[in-house]
Amino acid sequence: MFIKNNISVAIVIIVSLVLLSCGTEQHEKDEAVTRANQMLSRMTLEEKIGQMSQLDPGFFGGEEQLKQAVRDGRCGSLLNYWGVEKVNEIQRIAVSESRLGIPLIIGRDVIHGYRTIFPIPLGMAASWNPEIVKEAFRISSVEASSQGIKWTFAPMLDITWDPRWGRIAEGCGEDPLLASAMARAMVEGIQGDDLTDPTALAACAKHYVGYGFAEAGRDYNTTYISEPMLRDVVLKPFKAASDAGALTFMSAFNDLNGVPASGNEFTLKQILRDEWGFRGLVVSDWASVTEMVFHGYAADDKDAAAKAINAGVDMEMASSSYFDNIKRLLEEKKITEAQVDGAVRNILTVKYRLGLFDNPYVNPEAEKKILDPAFLDHARKVARQSTVLLKNDGNALPLSENIGSVAVIGPLADAPRDQLGTWCFDGQGENSVTPLRAIRELLGEKRVNHVAGLKYSRDKSLEQFNAALAAARRSDAILFFGGEEWILSGEGQSRGEIDIPGAQGALIEALSATGKPLVVVIMAGRPLAIGNELQDADALLYAWHGGTMAGPALTDLIFGKESPSGKLPVTFVKGAGQIPFYHYRKNTGRPANEKAWTPFDSIPTENPQGSLGYKSFHLDYGYTPLLPFGYGLSYTTFDYSDLNLSSQVMGTSGSITVRAKVTNSGTMDAEEVVQLYIRDRVGSITRPVKELKGFRRISIKKGETVEVEFVINSTDLAFFNGKATLTEPGEFDVWMGPNSDEGLHSDFIIE
Ligand code: NOJ
Repeated sequence: MFIKNNISVAIVIIVSLVLLSCGTEQHEKDEAVTRANQMLSRMTLEEKIGQMSQLDPGFFGGEEQLKQAVRDGRCGSLLNYWGVEKVNEIQRIAVSESRLGIPLIIGRDVIHGYRTIFPIPLGMAASWNPEIVKEAFRISSVEASSQGIKWTFAPMLDITWDPRWGRIAEGCGEDPLLASAMARAMVEGIQGDDLTDPTALAACAKHYVGYGFAEAGRDYNTTYISEPMLRDVVLKPFKAASDAGALTFMSAFNDLNGVPASGNEFTLKQILRDEWGFRGLVVSDWASVTEMVFHGYAADDKDAAAKAINAGVDMEMASSSYFDNIKRLLEEKKITEAQVDGAVRNILTVKYRLGLFDNPYVNPEAEKKILDPAFLDHARKVARQSTVLLKNDGNALPLSENIGSVAVIGPLADAPRDQLGTWCFDGQGENSVTPLRAIRELLGEKRVNHVAGLKYSRDKSLEQFNAALAAARRSDAILFFGGEEWILSGEGQSRGEIDIPGAQGALIEALSATGKPLVVVIMAGRPLAIGNELQDADALLYAWHGGTMAGPALTDLIFGKESPSGKLPVTFVKGAGQIPFYHYRKNTGRPANEKAWTPFDSIPTENPQGSLGYKSFHLDYGYTPLLPFGYGLSYTTFDYSDLNLSSQVMGTSGSITVRAKVTNSGTMDAEEVVQLYIRDRVGSITRPVKELKGFRRISIKKGETVEVEFVINSTDLAFFNGKATLTEPGEFDVWMGPNSDEGLHSDFIIE
């Protein structure tokens, strides 16, 4: 069997190499590449260096100096320079006043919307709905392109298992399959169906690679990732983005296993270019080339530039080590002309593909689409589907619109900027519809008793507590909106503790003590440790930072226009000390279970060594997380039944079909995200206890039953064992269910 497997691996490698060489030929015949080559043959070294440098507009010293640099062909790309008139003018200079007329490519961070802001990407991932996410990114491109932006530094595809890391907000969570589905959707949405369409932007898969594994979640920190983990988890969404045709990649800040990602030949050359056949352009992250000096990997900026170019970083963002040193590096033979030409070819090819040479200008009419009502409607839909119901005791939700009055309390009830979340340069608080406004619009001013209670999420003052409690007592239900301000997550905004900050916990506890039905809505950039809040609330909705239309979306859910249907894209831990905890974890040699763990408060004061069982758990947290990956409730109930497999045996190159019935046994039409997990019981290297292998969002009317079907191909079960990626024969568990912890179980074998 082992020999057979090795043969099949060899065949796969040969076939991929053949395909890759066909791909290379194809690439060379490509019109964009041909035109890029023709242009390249006419360029001076200065002009090539200009293409390889994406400098901040301020670098040249002022607007006039910048324009002169463009005229001189010393500037091929800009970031953070946008607006119809500005872009049209600078493009006019590039196209009609520079020697070769090469247009600029203008980039900007459009991460989860341009002016119509969608939920943070982590929230979008909670929708488990790639279709609506694709549309959200399409809308973002339509709005951003109207301002001359042709390149967005998105999607952010860093898998992370650490909620302390502030940038968890920008990614798609902890799972490679879910993140890959989102990666495809985001790239397709950003780039659209036709790259030459004026609304198409180039996507940029970032941060390549490993950035989400920053030690202790401290941003920019060192990462150590084994090759199996790299290939089977961290690289997966990047491969999906490359396969979906992402035009660009961004090399990351982090030191990966001792070699910074922006100088890493293994990931940039061997994996990205050679194994995957990526033909697009690689840009560095902001000064990540020169930061290799701080990492201790390059002696100075010149050395850093050489290392980045040798690794295959085509364009340097923000720092000027390429601009300042390429000439000397060529003279000293530290880099070659072929490398410079290769980089410039990649850059020009992207410009040709985007149609920039044919039309670099922005149509001033296009900006009329910004904040189009249809865009806002979509933002509301995405925010609804991103929200996860984590508790609903006694069907506290939904509330009836005929309720007498509600108390609206909490620092995020009316925080227009905060609900937009991190990384939104262009979204404006004034366009946000807050929960307070939306609830007032629905119920009328008189039935809404509003007291913020706390001025902002970290506020510790008890000043407004009495007023908040009084408002609660004279209302029929309490709606508390809290969580984190936007500034507490995002780049450089990591936290050591991940609890709900300030006096919010105390306020929720006091509100709960009033005995009124208490609905807690958490708006945050990360999964917070909300154990206490879950206990105090009758119902809890996790809404992330939901964007411009968070208020109406939450109102739709709270008052039952639609049932919540989001599911957690990350495991929720009990406290920072439990990090990391994720569904893809290994079993250990001492797995814990209920019997093996003594609750902290029951540990006898005098106990002999060994009486606590020597199993893998924390004495205080136990052995389970707060909430499992994939978890999320509904206003209705779904019953799973009749799991069956088309066969209990699969060949190493076969497939089986897994089916089960899902019945909506409750009282409301709703959507359910059905999930398929497997476990490979024994491997040549150890396998995770659960691997997500499929998911499907389906709409089921009350009383109806649908059959859900997944096909598992043997290739879906392949993993990298340290030498090769292959599917190994053996026994597998399979579960179909509503989250990673529950589901119908069966098994099969591969022989
Ligand atoms: C640094 C960030 O890491 C990256 O995500 C972003 O695209 C660039 N800055 C440009 O703003």
